[in-house]
Amino acid sequence: MPDDVLLTFVHISDTHISPDPDYGKQETPHSTSDSARLLVQQINALPFKPDFVLHTGDVAYDPDETAYFTAREILSQIQYPVYYVAGNHDKPEPLQRILLGRSEILAPFHYTFDVNGVQFIVLDSNGPAEVPRGNIIPEQLVWLDGLLSSMDDRPLVIAVHHNAVPVAVPWLDGFMRITNGEDFHNILLKARERLRGVFFGHVHQNLTMFRDGIMYNSTLSSWGQFHAWPGLNDTVKDEGAEPGFSVVSITRANTYIRRYRFRI
Ligand SMILES: [Fe+2]
Repeated sequence: MPDDVLLTFVHISDTHISPDPDYGKQETPHSTSDSARLLVQQINALPFKPDFVLHTGDVAYDPDETAYFTAREILSQIQYPVYYVAGNHDKPEPLQRILLGRSEILAPFHYTFDVNGVQFIVLDSNGPAEVPRGNIIPEQLVWLDGLLSSMDDRPLVIAVHHNAVPVAVPWLDGFMRITNGEDFHNILLKARERLRGVFFGHVHQNLTMFRDGIMYNSTLSSWGQFHAWPGLNDTVKDEGAEPGFSVVSITRANTYIRRYRFRI
């Protein structure tokens, strides 16, 4: 039986958009708004049509609701549907109300959707934790457990903002991670056979890890990037690194990830 591609999505993250058009130039030669606009151009210029775009959070530079008007102006230019995850710099209420135009506000901002027979589960990892760490509250873990315990043979993709499992990089594992990432991982084991990957942001770099047969995969920020190497204790900027995004294709049995970078 051919293992056909069921869908292809673009994974973007950490746009950190601000109402200040110069915001970000303290850290990089370009502002977050300029780089987000270039990201949008890159997506719209792809020589194929992705099914949708997944933004794994930190849409805004700070939990400032005015940022979502600028984010809406820039990100609404994407020619495909966009699904959002809330990051630690986001405020889920105005993200939903202003950016998505919703009147019914989810709190926490978790939801599920289906595209071409693939199940997607989006989680909000902004439970109580000392930022920039994350946490998935018990109510959400129960909800997730229920979804993963039911009979379902659809390929499954999970999206979350923070990194969940350790990678032997102290600043990522101690300073940035989901504090109850082990509980989260243990629930995911229930659906390991159909889980095509966990996609996240937050770390501003391409990072892939496998644990117990589960793949966790991040993508670049459209703004600035960070380093990671074994034993690194501090947050170190990857000076001059190009921004980018990933293109992910899902089949019944496989996950294909292609990395894209762009000059700014
Ligand atoms: Fe973040």
